[in-house]
Amino acid sequence: MRRIRKPFVLMNCGMSLDGKISSVGGDSSISCEEELVELHKLRCSFDCILIGIGTLLKDDPLLTVRRVPCENRPKRVIVDTRLRFPTNARMLSSEGEIIVLAGSRYPEEKYSLLEEMGVKVITCREVDGRVDLRDGLVKLSRIGIESILLEGGGELNWSMLSSGLVDEVRVSIAPVILGGRGAKTLVEGDGFAEVSKGIELDLIEYKRVGRDLVLRYRVLRPRDEYLEVTG
Ligand SMILES: NC(=O)c1ccc[n+]([C@@H]2O[C@H](COP(=O)([O-])OP(=O)(O)OC[C@H]3O[C@@H](n4cnc5c(N)ncnc54)[C@H](OP(=O)(O)O)[C@@H]3O)[C@@H](O)[C@H]2O)c1
Repeated sequence: MRRIRKPFVLMNCGMSLDGKISSVGGDSSISCEEELVELHKLRCSFDCILIGIGTLLKDDPLLTVRRVPCENRPKRVIVDTRLRFPTNARMLSSEGEIIVLAGSRYPEEKYSLLEEMGVKVITCREVDGRVDLRDGLVKLSRIGIESILLEGGGELNWSMLSSGLVDEVRVSIAPVILGGRGAKTLVEGDGFAEVSKGIELDLIEYKRVGRDLVLRYRVLRPRDEYLEVTG
């Protein structure tokens, strides 16, 4: 079996002190203005920005670089098994390539509609009825993507972390506590039953940005450097 180097993946998120990435009311504007400038600088240095369809449906983000000058235009990639991508999404009317990593079954009409709108749909294998992210990363690598800025949400963060696909984690912690049982946290998913099974991290940077505290970690375990290519 052939192996290829996995694209570098940095998971980045703004959260409250209690780990919420959105309030119970669905408000996710948590980071301060200075941190948003840092985020746009980061975006500019990556080949693509990756989000889950949950985030697209909730936040309708543009995922462009607007706050700093930038020659690079990172591709916007959405993981969306059954093509729930809304045809009135704001990102469709902004410049830059949009790619959907879809599963192996989806409505053909929606596929044609999205392609007509300029969205590139890449069909991937599925695991447990969702996009097989390893296959997705192999396919992104084949179109020249070497670096990925993962911008959530919680479900996709869990899948990427627990599959060993994340190399570094950067969080900006805003000095606010949001609470709320239903409010999304940095990492959702099934979780680990034992602390010893958790994702192990090594702190590599900490700094204050405006009113926020930014922490950057290297993932120690689980983390893969290579992806197996089948077919
Ligand atoms: N503060 C921040 O920086 C920040 C950043 C991003 C998001 N957010 C917040 O996060 C929330 C959205 O998070 P979320 O957890 O609901 O959604 P999400 O992680 O953005 O998207 C999850 C969805 O992606 C699809 N998916 C396909 N394959 C997957 C796989 N292998 N693993 C996981 N997901 C897969 C699934 O839908 P299908 O089965 O239909 O494909 C799944 O429901 C929003 O409230 C948003 O505001 C905050």
